[in-house]
Amino acid sequence: MSKKIRVGVIYGGPSAERAISLITGKAICENLDKKKYDVIPLEMSKDKKFFLDNNYYKQLNAPGHKSTGKKIAALVPVKSNDLGKDKIDVVFLALHGTYGEDGKIQSILESLGVKYTGSGVLASALAMNKVFSSQIYFANGLPFPEFINFKKSGWKNDKAKILAEVKNKIGYPCVLKPVDQGSAVGVSIVKTEPELAKAILKTIKKFPWLMVQKFIKGREATCGVLEQSGSPFPLPPTEIIANAGEFYDYKSKYSKGGSTHICPANFEEHINEQIQTLAVQAHIALGCAGMSRTDIMVGDDGKLYVLETNTIPGMTPTSLFPEAAGKAGINFMKMLDVIIKAAI
Ligand SMILES: Nc1ncnc2c1ncn2[C@@H]1O[C@H](COP(=O)(O)OP(=O)(O)O)[C@@H](O)[C@H]1O
Ligand SMILES: [Mg+2]
Repeated sequence: MSKKIRVGVIYGGPSAERAISLITGKAICENLDKKKYDVIPLEMSKDKKFFLDNNYYKQLNAPGHKSTGKKIAALVPVKSNDLGKDKIDVVFLALHGTYGEDGKIQSILESLGVKYTGSGVLASALAMNKVFSSQIYFANGLPFPEFINFKKSGWKNDKAKILAEVKNKIGYPCVLKPVDQGSAVGVSIVKTEPELAKAILKTIKKFPWLMVQKFIKGREATCGVLEQSGSPFPLPPTEIIANAGEFYDYKSKYSKGGSTHICPANFEEHINEQIQTLAVQAHIALGCAGMSRTDIMVGDDGKLYVLETNTIPGMTPTSLFPEAAGKAGINFMKMLDVIIKAAI
């Protein structure tokens, strides 16, 4: 029998999406095909230290490692003797948001010469930043909702100018969001200028770079892209209906029954096709690799608008990406194979 591939799964991390990453990481550890892979679960702590994860080890019953639950050399997990004499063949990144999805961990792995799943440094960084990704969408003719953006200093210096710009260019209702977060963290939909000013005041304390975007009235969709044999192909699109919150906010995303997923989506055939085309175009335009998932609004005006591209989509058992892969006949285990294959 050929030697198993050693997969280091990194999850946790310092971002606001840490809790989701823990679930994604667990799902990946549990679903990796143990006939093909040795799984090395690596929890990244909030202060970016690495730990061989005792609990997952117990669950996985992985042999040969007595150094479980132990802190290992920070930044160089894959070269640490704590991992045994064999190095990791590939890292499966199960981190979401800051540090894990924005090119930072990718650049560390690059400099260590370690292969990893998903997009590289540049694509990750671009996709994580909604201002820069919109500029890439614009350059490639992809539609997105109009927006303005400003930093903490800009707001402090001239609130009136920013509010006037919103009034003239964006209008109400509008959507306030951090430029570089995920999971709808810090996103609010506001109806009036005083409401917006209040929301900015609150949000800017935690997230110093914000955007205010035109609110798109309509239905919400998302579409995964998976790479096979070097080419990206779209998964079936999903329509998302938020039940828990007013929009697809954190509560709708992660509470039980918080949202309804319809996959394949029930849009007219040509809309479904357009969603898939946009998802693949966004993936290519940003230079993504392995997989991505693009969020799209289907406006009541009949137009489509790209909201964002996620380079490490959630992979909890109820997440959108694995669900859509399943509808395409690719079960969770097979999906992980495809993503690892693309990485190595
Ligand atoms: N311009 C918009 N119009 C209408 N709803 C929006 C708009 N932007 C965001 N939303 C709502 O907020 C959610 C989160 O926004 P998104 O841009 O995808 O950021 P995140 O990276 O946090 O997921 C979306 O899934 C959608 O429900
Ligand atoms: Mg989103």
